[in-house]
Amino acid sequence: MRIDDAPGLLREGYTWAGRLRGDRPAVPIRLLGRRAALVGGPEGVRRFYDPSLRRRGALPLPVKLVLFGRGSIHGLDDAEHRHDKAMYLNVLTPAAVDDLSRRAQAEWSAAASSWTADRPVVLFDEAVRVLTASVLSWAGIPDPRADVTGRRLAAVLDGFATPGAPYARAALARWRLNRWAAGLVRKVRRNQIQPRPGTALDVAARARDLDGSLLSETRAAVALLNVVRPTVAVAWFVTYAGIALHQQPEWRRRVASGDSAACRAFAQEVRRLYPFVPVLAARARDEQDVLGVRVPAGGLVVLDVHGTDHDPTHWPEPERFDPNRFLSGPVDPDTLVPQGGGDVRTGHRCPGEDVTLTMIEVATRALAETPYTLPPQDFRVDLSRMPTLPRSRVVMTVPPSSD
Ligand code: HEM
Repeated sequence: MRIDDAPGLLREGYTWAGRLRGDRPAVPIRLLGRRAALVGGPEGVRRFYDPSLRRRGALPLPVKLVLFGRGSIHGLDDAEHRHDKAMYLNVLTPAAVDDLSRRAQAEWSAAASSWTADRPVVLFDEAVRVLTASVLSWAGIPDPRADVTGRRLAAVLDGFATPGAPYARAALARWRLNRWAAGLVRKVRRNQIQPRPGTALDVAARARDLDGSLLSETRAAVALLNVVRPTVAVAWFVTYAGIALHQQPEWRRRVASGDSAACRAFAQEVRRLYPFVPVLAARARDEQDVLGVRVPAGGLVVLDVHGTDHDPTHWPEPERFDPNRFLSGPVDPDTLVPQGGGDVRTGHRCPGEDVTLTMIEVATRALAETPYTLPPQDFRVDLSRMPTLPRSRVVMTVPPSSD
């Protein structure tokens, strides 16, 4: 019998799926004691979003509870899932994304004007701070300790998949965030705070279950955190964008000149190239054939997200940063899945893609307009850790101001 592949995933991180799959659309693996199929590439993406798979029970509980929280949409199926999904789509309208974009622009501009030549700035920490401040005010959340909240949100993301101290920090941060968010929901319900109508806090606090009953405080808190936490997660991409801009003076010039198509292509390439989500998991509802691999009822199907975004058949020279890939016509949506694939309304595709691209763009523009440099530092990225960052977390310096 094949030995379990789960320790390999923890040990090898982003390179694990690619090593097992090569360029095949599906290979048999064994995960958490179950027979499973590892799929990838456009064919694998389409198969992964087939309704014959479900999400309930797909993730190990220690990961699910810390990263997403109990009862989160990520593990729901069918009518329950579609009902919950509508709530997120109601919050994340184009007008709401514009509003968030304006807030983030103001926050980046204030941050950039506080940077001085005598104090190097750690870009990752600054991005966490700016994104937290932007998303909290946009979500209708009063928070005098926003810096602490930002660090906790980042701790959840940083540690949920790394056993030992990072996981312990993530679990503690999740527990504190759940209490904090449940407290906010309670205050709205008691009319002690009145968030603007339509904001994430307002919508989560008033949300109802499929049977019409008000969501429990715990579930409303989890829903609120499902908007706030991933917005702060964009800090990982912003950190990589800071390196890419530094390494590509021509793109830096184009973005700084106000070329919005170039800026969007730059943001797309950041999402494609840099490591963030390694794999996704679903379970077979019944015994079935998954692109030639037999999977029993309850068996897992794992989507190689990182490998699909780096597939040389669809992305020539996949390790090269080249935003031009996104300036020469539409791309096949099944080849680019940093935030999942399929249909956003009916499937589990991330509803925050517009927010993500917009937050990367706003940060990229602010950075392109700032004459920062990156002094010698340790840029190495440990691909065995998920998620991962350059070791230095990207230290920037700015020249003395001329006034
Ligand atoms: C789901 C990635 C930002 C809200 C997902 C999924 C991925 C993902 C891979 C799962 C897709 C699947 O299971 O098929 C990311 C990345 C982000 C990001 C890499 C940026 C760093 C956001 C933002 C929001 C958001 C900004 C909201 C403001 C959600 C929600 C789900 C989700 C609510 C669950 C959707 C469902 O189960 O139907 N995201 N996301 N994400 N994301 Fe994002």
